[in-house]
Amino acid sequence: MRIEIITAEPRHLVEIVRIEQENFPAPCWSTALFERKLEDPSVRFLLAEAEGHVLGFAVLQYMPPEAELQDIAVDRTVQDRGIGRQLITRLLEECVRADVTAVHLDVRAGNDRAIALYRSLGFEAVGRRSGYYRNTDEDAILMTATCLEKR
Ligand SMILES: CC(C)(COP(=O)(O)OP(=O)(O)OC[C@H]1O[C@@H](n2cnc3c(N)ncnc32)[C@H](O)[C@@H]1OP(=O)(O)O)[C@@H](O)C(=O)NCCC(=O)NCCS
Repeated sequence: MRIEIITAEPRHLVEIVRIEQENFPAPCWSTALFERKLEDPSVRFLLAEAEGHVLGFAVLQYMPPEAELQDIAVDRTVQDRGIGRQLITRLLEECVRADVTAVHLDVRAGNDRAIALYRSLGFEAVGRRSGYYRNTDEDAILMTATCLEKR
């Protein structure tokens, strides 16, 4: 399966929302919120696609000189095959080229897979917010990757 990392477009919205809803407990991001992210010039919205199907997506908000990874999800049927890694790697490469100094994110404390992936890509835990996710009363782990490479 040849996976391509491309820029998300409005035609992908239905599949993006399906993947979001299958992966996150309510309330998750709405179609309207994804639409706004697609239109926002300070957002980088990437997609992993194969044979015309969306396999996953990632949303990064630029906040110069920093950025925030706001959402990432991979279709449940193809998780653990390196797709999340490809999406974040591409975003981090673009951040280096854009002179972003650091990328931040928050993740549920019990999300072992995501935390392991983020750590392996250079993110470090920098804080914890107790009960941050109201719907499950889970703590958030705040993680940051410093972009040290230069063009
Ligand atoms: C988190 C997510 C985006 C990662 O994408 P993915 O394509 O499944 O991840 P990858 O295959 O690129 O990498 C997963 C890594 O976690 C590891 N892993 C899998 N399950 C694990 C577990 N239970 N504990 C620790 N590590 C685990 C894998 O071995 C892999 O590491 P490796 O590349 O060093 O072998 C995806 O699983 C997902 O959509 N999860 C649900 C939504 C979500 O949690 N989003 C993140 C919110 S912060």
